[in-house]
Amino acid sequence: AGIGLGAFAVVQLRDNPKAQQAVDEIYEAAKDFGAAVADGYREREEELNKPAKRPTTPKKWMKTAEIKRRWLEFFEKKNHTVVPSASLVSQDPTLMFTVAGMVPFIPYMTGLLPAPYERATSVQKCVRTLDIEEVGKTTRHGTFFQMNGNFSFGDYFKKEAISFAWELLTNSVEDGGYGFDKDKLWVTVYKDDEESIQYWLEQTDIPKERIQKRGMADNYWSTGQRGPAGPCSEIYFDRGPAYGIEGGPEADEDRYIEIWNLVFMQYERADGGTKDHFEILGELPKKNIDTGMGLERVAFLLQGVENIYEIDQVKPLIDLVSQLSNKEYGANEQDDVRMRVIADHIRSSLMLMSDGVTPSNEGRGYVLRRLLRRSVRALRLLGIDK
Ligand code: ALA
Repeated sequence: AGIGLGAFAVVQLRDNPKAQQAVDEIYEAAKDFGAAVADGYREREEELNKPAKRPTTPKKWMKTAEIKRRWLEFFEKKNHTVVPSASLVSQDPTLMFTVAGMVPFIPYMTGLLPAPYERATSVQKCVRTLDIEEVGKTTRHGTFFQMNGNFSFGDYFKKEAISFAWELLTNSVEDGGYGFDKDKLWVTVYKDDEESIQYWLEQTDIPKERIQKRGMADNYWSTGQRGPAGPCSEIYFDRGPAYGIEGGPEADEDRYIEIWNLVFMQYERADGGTKDHFEILGELPKKNIDTGMGLERVAFLLQGVENIYEIDQVKPLIDLVSQLSNKEYGANEQDDVRMRVIADHIRSSLMLMSDGVTPSNEGRGYVLRRLLRRSVRALRLLGIDK
C-alpha cells in the first residue's frame, strides 16, 4: 500500500518539480513494504514448511530457494562456473531488460568476446512485460521471474544438455534431484530436429508418444531481434485431466506446463520477420547451449499450489493485500486476479527499483510507472485507497 501511495504521488506530480521528492518517498515506502513482507514471511515460515494441502505432486514440498540451490549445486558438479545474476537493466543497449538467462552471455555466443569459461550456470532475475495482460489470470505468467540456466560456449551440445536436464528433473529428492514423475513429463522438439529426438530416445526413458514436433513459432528461440538463435526442445509437466484435455503440450499448455527450454544456439538471426518466420544470417562461430528453467513454475509444481503467485516467495504479498483489504483470497475470482496482479507487479517494481530504475515517461522508467499504476488501480478496486 505504501508503494502504491508513493506511486500515486508520482503520477500526480509528474509535471511538478516535487516529482523527485515523490520518487524518494517511493523508495522509503518500498523499504517499509519490503520489511512488512519479510516480517509476514518470518511469521509464516513454520506454516510454509508444512506440506501443502492440495499437492499436485504429493509428498514433495520444496522451497523456491532450495530449488535454486539444487540447481546450482547440480551444474557446479558438472563443471559449470556459477555466475551471479546480472542486473535487470541489460548491458546490451539493444535490449531494455534482461529478458532471459542468456542475455548477459550474448557476446560469448556471437563471438564478440571470448568466453571466460566453457560452461556456466546462473539463476537470473528477468523482466518480461509482453504478456502483462495475462498476469493474474493464468497459472504461469509473471512480469518478474527467475530463470535457472546452464550454458555451454562451444563445449557440450544437444546430447549432454538433454541428458543433464533429464537427470536433474527425475533424480529423486534424496539424491539431490527434483523428483519429477517420469511418466508425467512430455517433450517437444523443432520439426526438423531428428537428432534431438534420437538423443531423447537413447538417453532417457521418455517414450516416442510423449515427444511432439512443433514449428518455428514454438520451437525456435531467439530474443526476437538480431543475435543468437536456434531450434529448441522444451520439457513439459502434465498436471492431469483435472486441468485440461489430453494430447500433450500441442493440445493444452495450461494442463501441460512448460518447465524447461533447451536451446541449441547455432545460428545468427536477422532483425525483423515474425515469430514463425525470420531470416537466418548464418552460423555462429561455435555451437552453444542456452537453457532456461522457470524457477517459479517448478516451485508451484513442487509446492502443490495452483499457480506461480501462490509459491512461498510470492504468497506473502497476496496475504498482506488480503489483510489490508479485508478480503479473503480465494473467495472471489475477480478479487483474486487483482491480488495476484498486485503481488506480481509490486515484486517486479521492487526488483526494478533495486536495480536503479526510476519511474518516468519513457523506456524502462515508463514500464516501471505502468506497473505501479496498474498496482494502484488494482489496490483501489480492492477498496484500498489510503
Ligand atoms: N533463452 C531460453 C528461454 O528464455 C532458454 O526460454
